[in-house]
Amino acid sequence: MTLPGNIYSIKQFLLEQSFPETIEAAVILGSGLGEFSTVIENPVSIAYGDIPDFPQTSVQGHSGELISGTVAGKSVIAFSGRFHRYEGHPYSKTVLPVHLAQAFDAGKLIISNAAGAINTGFRVGDLMVIDDVFRLFEHVSAAPSETFRYNHGETAARVRRIAASIGLEVQRGTYLFAQGPSYETKSEIRAFRILGGDVVGMSTLPELVEAARLQLPAAAISMVTNMAAGVVAGKLDHKHVKAAAESRKDDFARLVTELIKEL
Ligand code: HPA
Repeated sequence: MTLPGNIYSIKQFLLEQSFPETIEAAVILGSGLGEFSTVIENPVSIAYGDIPDFPQTSVQGHSGELISGTVAGKSVIAFSGRFHRYEGHPYSKTVLPVHLAQAFDAGKLIISNAAGAINTGFRVGDLMVIDDVFRLFEHVSAAPSETFRYNHGETAARVRRIAASIGLEVQRGTYLFAQGPSYETKSEIRAFRILGGDVVGMSTLPELVEAARLQLPAAAISMVTNMAAGVVAGKLDHKHVKAAAESRKDDFARLVTELIKEL
């Protein structure tokens, strides 16, 4: 499957910065989850702004760095910060981490995000394995002319088994993609619950769909950083996202490490 030509020049630049020729896993770190990069051994870290032809990230809680190194003896690259549609990036750019993972021959991709819980049985700090996604009628594909069937169920079942193997309790459910950048209204969240969404977020879905198109196995994990609008009283604020992520950072790191080893 061909990748956009500039991906190979980006890879060439990274090889010149002593990134390895191939990696075993690529990890996309969502809002507030960049702490995971501290568990990467022998890290080589490059700011997105220093990589030619790389988009920039403008979101709070995203450092905007690409890190290579090892985790549990496996070579990885980690994206600390991603590219959202709401920042003005076209879908073809939101999936750049997936393309770069493929260019480095990564056998697997681990995608994470911060999300709001629609499901009233969830709590702030819960980790949810994404079983399925809901596109909310958005046209999210970077390759609009291709038709393929998206099915994430088998990988999700493996992710849940891996979480269980380290004694980690996780939720499972459907990730509903809302483009943002504003948080949803209470009425929207009520409607999303009826539609079957368990969490809502503004990322991940384009990346998952592109990974499926490229047949790259992808695990996807949401960290519940807040209850979605109207589920509990009070205002939503980006600082909740950071606090919740901070409170579960060790479990998150354990799960991602195990996925790097076992997925
Ligand atoms: N809505 C959308 N995206 C989010 C939320 C939310 O409540 N929390 C974290 N990302």
